[in-house]
Amino acid sequence: MARRTVGAPVAAVVAGLGTCLPAGKVDNADLVGILDTSDAWIRSRTGISSRRRVSDDVSVTDLACAAAVNALDSAGAGTVGGVVLATSTPDRPCPPAAPEVAHRLGLGCVPAFDVSAVCSGFVYGLATAWGWLAAGIADSVLVVAAETYSRIVDPADRATAVLFGDGAGAVVVRRGTPEEPGALLAFDLGSDGSGAELIRVPGVRERPDGERWFAMAGRKVYLQAVDRMAASALRVMKDCSWTPETVDAFVPHQANLRIVEAVAGRLGLPAGRAVGALADVGNTAAASIPLALVDALAARVLKPGARTVLSAFGGGLTWASSALIWPQLTPVCTEV
Ligand code: UT7
Repeated sequence: MARRTVGAPVAAVVAGLGTCLPAGKVDNADLVGILDTSDAWIRSRTGISSRRRVSDDVSVTDLACAAAVNALDSAGAGTVGGVVLATSTPDRPCPPAAPEVAHRLGLGCVPAFDVSAVCSGFVYGLATAWGWLAAGIADSVLVVAAETYSRIVDPADRATAVLFGDGAGAVVVRRGTPEEPGALLAFDLGSDGSGAELIRVPGVRERPDGERWFAMAGRKVYLQAVDRMAASALRVMKDCSWTPETVDAFVPHQANLRIVEAVAGRLGLPAGRAVGALADVGNTAAASIPLALVDALAARVLKPGARTVLSAFGGGLTWASSALIWPQLTPVCTEV
């Protein structure tokens, strides 16, 4: 499903960006002692050097709140009219975390719910926020992505334990016009449930007495990720009438540096336009795009006025892309 928002009377405009990372670091060397792996394998196959891990007393809701407060600060906003929270590692299956985030931030009884679209959740959240703004449900919305994969990944499984990290990111989107910098210009969202088995955490009925660790068919997911993200990103570029040469910054989901490079190659992007920002944080699932945006700003790949394409792929299978002209903003980033 591609949705062109260029020319629509109402736009969702990105107005603030915040992140929160756990202070605790796990370097490749820390894993080599525990797993049958090597620093060379992890770096060459994934581009990851270290990842962050929350301490026992920090919840995914804590991370989400910190990133949300930082995004509000970055936007210079005291409040918002709704919260959409993307996570595939909630502290509990019920209730969702977003109402608690709204409560803790003192936002009052605003609409708030969680999006479950795994690594595509942040871009699905942006599309949801755009819908709320267009429908008049809210004038501004916090879109938060927060993950604690360290709590669902089997520490003894080398195929997944080396990949994932914890972290959170958030943006404030407000109602504006499509001509403004920061306006989300197009969306492409999709899913293919025939691939549901490829990324999975078993439920209680599937493993009544068993362990419920995260599992992923890595190689099959790799191939799907490249195909789906490239096709989805192309659709939003086409909707914006952007050619690869005119895209300044491509900020995809950060699962694996080789995937980032393969998608950039498939799209025919000039060198240096694709953002690979997972060396220090690993794959942070839904949080990876807002965290990568901060890295891209620091590296000056992302600047005000940059034609920017976001693209994500994850469990479901799900994928989602969007495009915007990057606005003038200063991100606020903290650690916990
Ligand atoms: O975020 C949601 C979406 N997720 C993704 O997009 C992740 C997609 N998948 C990937 O990033 C990659 O497939 C992986 C990083 C998970 C694996 O890389 P790969 O190049 O696809 O390796 P592979 O799965 O084909 O495995 C190659 C070999 C295997 O050994 P054999 O069968 O060739 O003897 C694995 O057992 O590498 C082995 N291996 C490891 N060796 C050392 C797998 N994990 C490790 C490890 N250390 N940590």
